[in-house]
Amino acid sequence: MSAYEKLLSNNKSWAAGMVKESPDFFRNLADQHPEFLWIGCSDSRVPANEITGTLPGEIFVHRNLANLVIHTDVNLLSVLEYAVVHLKVKHVIVCGHYGCGGIKAAMTSHDFKQVLNMWLRNIKDVYRLHRNELEAISDLGKREDRLTELNVQEQVLHLAKTSIIQRAWQHTKAPHLHGWVYGLKDGLLRSVFSMTPDSAIDPIYAYDDLR
Ligand code: CO
Repeated sequence: MSAYEKLLSNNKSWAAGMVKESPDFFRNLADQHPEFLWIGCSDSRVPANEITGTLPGEIFVHRNLANLVIHTDVNLLSVLEYAVVHLKVKHVIVCGHYGCGGIKAAMTSHDFKQVLNMWLRNIKDVYRLHRNELEAISDLGKREDRLTELNVQEQVLHLAKTSIIQRAWQHTKAPHLHGWVYGLKDGLLRSVFSMTPDSAIDPIYAYDDLR
């Protein structure tokens, strides 16, 4: 059996196991009502459901390299709008992870060619914003870890800059925004930043005529 055939065969066993445990499992998933939107890294070691002990139907997921929230990313923005406006999620979680290849790459001066350079530049911008704090850390590994945390914080701030989040906060007092970092070495999630509908937004980003 080839590697991809193994996936299809695993799937049959998994589906049968789920039905055995809970006969109505798939029927009950005809509609989804997830409370959470997860914006995580594409890294294969950080699967949203497994590390949070959740099942299909519980988390709406978007993943990209280094869990970035970029205001021209139509893919991310459509996921965000659908999750917030239509699914009415209560929490949006941006989850980074220590040992992130995107963070490490952005800290080098290597040319990764145009598309990756473009993407990683967003992390370099986070580095530049927090250069003093980061360069005071002499240990390179610890500096990467801190940039991982600051990157998550900046992406949460980016969420709050969108009219999608600001409108939802004004109208429904939700969602709560969370910045988490996952440890590949211990499997644990740490909360590093959060914002509620009452959090202050830098006035230059705050809309005062939302309808
Ligand atoms: Co990563």
